[in-house]
Amino acid sequence: MEPDIKEEKIYPLGYEPETTPESTDPNVRNQLINFILKSGPAEVVDTDLFAVMAKRRSTRKFLDKPVETAKIDKIIAAADTAPTAGNYQGFEIFYVKSPEKKKQLIEACNNQPYVNAPVVLVFCKNPSRVKFDFPEYVLKKFAIQDATLAAGYSQLAAQALGLSSIWIGMFDEQKVMDVIGTDLVPSSVLCIGYPKQTKFPKPRRNLKDLVHVTW
Ligand SMILES: Cc1cc2nc3c(=O)[nH]c(=O)nc-3n(C[C@H](O)[C@H](O)[C@H](O)COP(=O)(O)O)c2cc1C
Repeated sequence: MEPDIKEEKIYPLGYEPETTPESTDPNVRNQLINFILKSGPAEVVDTDLFAVMAKRRSTRKFLDKPVETAKIDKIIAAADTAPTAGNYQGFEIFYVKSPEKKKQLIEACNNQPYVNAPVVLVFCKNPSRVKFDFPEYVLKKFAIQDATLAAGYSQLAAQALGLSSIWIGMFDEQKVMDVIGTDLVPSSVLCIGYPKQTKFPKPRRNLKDLVHVTW
C-alpha cells in the first residue's frame, strides 16, 4: 500500500525554481514538478528518451558557459520523478553553488578537477525518510537506491537538455559531508555543464553477454 505523505517536499536551503505556478493548489498532485518539467523556455534538444539514452556520453571538460536556471530546475525536477522505495523519497539533493565549496569538493572527490563544473549536485541518502518498519540496513539500502536512481534521472534530463555530465562516485564521504554541511551520506556527485566537445558514446559489451536468462 502506498503511504500518504503529507510532509512538504524538502528542497535544499535557498533553492527557488526560476518560475513557479501562479497559485499553489495543494490538491493538484505534483503541481510544481509538472509545471517545471512542462514549462519553457529551456531548449529541449531531444525529446526521444531512447535517442537521449543512445547519445549520452560522460564529459569531464565543460565550457565556462553557465547553465540556464530553467534547465537546472528541470534537471532537479527530473530527479523528483524517479521511483523511490515506498514513495518515501529517501534522498536529498545538495546544489553546490559557491566556487569555494566546489574547490573543496574537488579535494573531497579524490582531486578530480572537473568537480568544479558549472552545475554540481550532490545526491545524498536520507534513510530517515523511509518509514517502513524494516531493519535499519534495509532502509539504508533503499535510500542508496533512491538517491542513485534519482541522479540517473537527472543525468538523462541533462542530456536531453543539450548538456553533458560526469557521475562522481570516487569521494571521501565524510569530506563531502563536511563541505556541504550535512550528516547525510552522499551516494553520488553529478557534475553538469555544456561539453567542450561532443563525443560518441562509449562501447558496451554485447547485449547478449549482458543478459542471463533463467527459467
Ligand atoms: C558508480 C559510478 C561511479 C563513477 N565514478 C566516477 C568518478 O569518480 N570519476 C569519474 O571521472 N568518472 C566516474 N564515473 C563515470 C564513468 O567512468 C563513466 O560513466 C563510464 O566510463 C562510462 O562512460 P559513459 O558514461 O560515457 O557511458 C562513475 C560512474 C558510475 C556509474
